[in-house]
Amino acid sequence: MPNLKTGLSLLCYLLLSSALSAQQTPWKEVAPGVWKTVVGSPESYDLLKASGAVPDTAALGRMQRVAFPLSQNEISTTTANNKTSLRFPLTREEQLFGFGLNFQTIYQRGKILQLHVDHYGGRDNGRTHAPVPFYVSSKGYGVFINSARYINVYAGSGVRKDSKNPPLEKDRNKDKSWSSRPYSDAVEIQVPANGVEVYLFAGPTALDAVRRYNLFNGGGALPPRWGLGFTQRVKTLYNAQDVKDEADSFLLKGYPLDYIGLEPGWQSKSYPGTFEWDTTRYPEPAKFVKEMLDKNIRLNLWINPYVSKSAPFYKSITPYTGSHTVWVGEVPDFTMPEARKIFFGQLQKDQVDIGVSGYKIDEVDGYDYYLWPDIATFPSGKDGEQMRQTYGLLAQRYSEEMYRARNQRTYGLVRASNAGANSFPYVIYNDYYNHEDFITALINSGYAGVLWTPEVRVSKTGEEWLRRFQTVIFSPMAMINAWSSGTKPWSYPEVAEQVKKMALLRMQMIPYWYSEFAKYHFEGTPPFRAMNLEEGFAQDVKKESGNTSLEENPYAEATTKEIKDQYMAGEYLLVAPLFTGQKTRKVVLPKGNWYDFYTGERVGNGEVITITPGLDKIPVYVKDGGIIPIMPPLLHAPAAGEKVDLEIRHFGEKNGLYKLYDDDGESYNYEKGEYSWREIKVEKDKNGKWKGTISAAVKGKPNTINKITWKFMTEASQPR
Ligand code: GAL
Repeated sequence: MPNLKTGLSLLCYLLLSSALSAQQTPWKEVAPGVWKTVVGSPESYDLLKASGAVPDTAALGRMQRVAFPLSQNEISTTTANNKTSLRFPLTREEQLFGFGLNFQTIYQRGKILQLHVDHYGGRDNGRTHAPVPFYVSSKGYGVFINSARYINVYAGSGVRKDSKNPPLEKDRNKDKSWSSRPYSDAVEIQVPANGVEVYLFAGPTALDAVRRYNLFNGGGALPPRWGLGFTQRVKTLYNAQDVKDEADSFLLKGYPLDYIGLEPGWQSKSYPGTFEWDTTRYPEPAKFVKEMLDKNIRLNLWINPYVSKSAPFYKSITPYTGSHTVWVGEVPDFTMPEARKIFFGQLQKDQVDIGVSGYKIDEVDGYDYYLWPDIATFPSGKDGEQMRQTYGLLAQRYSEEMYRARNQRTYGLVRASNAGANSFPYVIYNDYYNHEDFITALINSGYAGVLWTPEVRVSKTGEEWLRRFQTVIFSPMAMINAWSSGTKPWSYPEVAEQVKKMALLRMQMIPYWYSEFAKYHFEGTPPFRAMNLEEGFAQDVKKESGNTSLEENPYAEATTKEIKDQYMAGEYLLVAPLFTGQKTRKVVLPKGNWYDFYTGERVGNGEVITITPGLDKIPVYVKDGGIIPIMPPLLHAPAAGEKVDLEIRHFGEKNGLYKLYDDDGESYNYEKGEYSWREIKVEKDKNGKWKGTISAAVKGKPNTINKITWKFMTEASQPR
């Protein structure tokens, strides 16, 4: 009976297709300006579970009240065949940012990505150290997909036949405006699971959406003060005496130094590691660490978490490790309390308790051949893919716990991260070494809730050394990573003095950096971020693209014209680095007057300027009314309780206002209210002279400020 059969299959099809048809899911406001929806049946393990991030609802509550930022009926979701598809609307004029730590592009509209933790491989295809599934729209909202899976993203590339805003069909034979990339009106995302949690962050501005995302994840990291000083990583087989000598030579030559990083050779074996000191190179670890601390130098230890059979805890940890090895070392399942207790227990006892200040957690990101394969299994039941997406998060979370237990802050390095890591005091780095791309990554880190350092290793010329050095000074971690080269700041004699000046400038700016990180923590504002988040920054991509085939979707291919070589550093500074070989460059100034950081002179307003700054300088500009607090060029960051003099520099014609943050700089007591904000104001008195005031130190709170002097940079730059 063919008719009945056909009828039945039609019925089946109709039933199935209604189950498959796009749903609208209810959104619930879970924190001020943050909405959540639960699609299908999400997996029990996700990025927020791995990171344990706790929203700062009080800080979110202090932000402006806002309405749901999109039209709910334009968002749709579907769950079928162990896949969840999400669709968000995209208007013609919208640009997209984020989707993790990309190295070559800021604009993400039109991209097809698979978000996958990996060592960056030279292409912005979603495989990176922090493939954070969070994007921000230029229309002022953000979307976060809370999944520990490899997520497919079509960021405005697909065109649905039921689109309400379909692109026009054109005849390629006759129509020159035909485009291979027609306009798409949706961001489509596919998660390989039967459900997922999705979060939406309101603005009103894109920066507000980023702030809400950061605050929702516990606020940004607040490093100890010393973390913002200078750090040198030494050659891998250095011994205790070499390290002491290294510290002494910094002091002798007058270069600042706060912490030294020891590379794999501190361990008795590495790749896989034993997690105990090598007694030939470090015969008396406790004495050595103490001697270094007495010199005001902290130590950071390299590890990758893969356990050798010679590790003292090997037998006890092996039941809690995964099915596959990495460099023949076993992989602890950090989602299991048993594994954590054994692994971090060793680090605590052998290193943290004798005064080691932090870790560099290496190789938790990938290179497929090195890491465990996706088919690996782990004793907790997590699979290889989930572990890959979250191992960096777990390593950061539980290593920081060792320091939390001591009420002592740490600041370290990590090579993999993901959403929810915002408050972890870790900076991402890698083995890639393209200077321009390092700066683009620094810009993108501000969209991803992570920190990134454009570390300096070695250079072909003094020029390259200085140019790289200049940018690492204006980044979250000022570091030379000489693990293989053994380079020192003074290794290129022709630029050694300029390098020293830059390193000392880093130290002078600690009060500024520290306050800006406090704003990251308490208000969610990324200390290093894209120009696109800056008010008054406008770039007409359409005009610059000069490609007629982009008429339909001007954003799709115009990536080469995006501004990815200048960025904002803290509230007031615009940094525009130069790269090797470059003598001159263009800088796009946002609306409002901008002033030279070094001289106080006005440089322009809402325009593109062309500059030829010379090799000694990294161009830095200050917003009108900007205030930069500066301390003396000390060789070590101020210790807890140490007071320093402050020179408060004001730039421009506008009155100045600045919130200066203060706390003990070393403990977690700020989480219990042991901090203060002091208000700095610069205004003209009745005779038209600039005058600065600062609110009194808050009684009973840490106060690190001694004598204050004022410098009105722009006024001083003018001829009398
Ligand atoms: C690499 C790491 C380098 C260095 C080296 C030591 O994986 O990226 O910075 O630490 O290991 O073996």
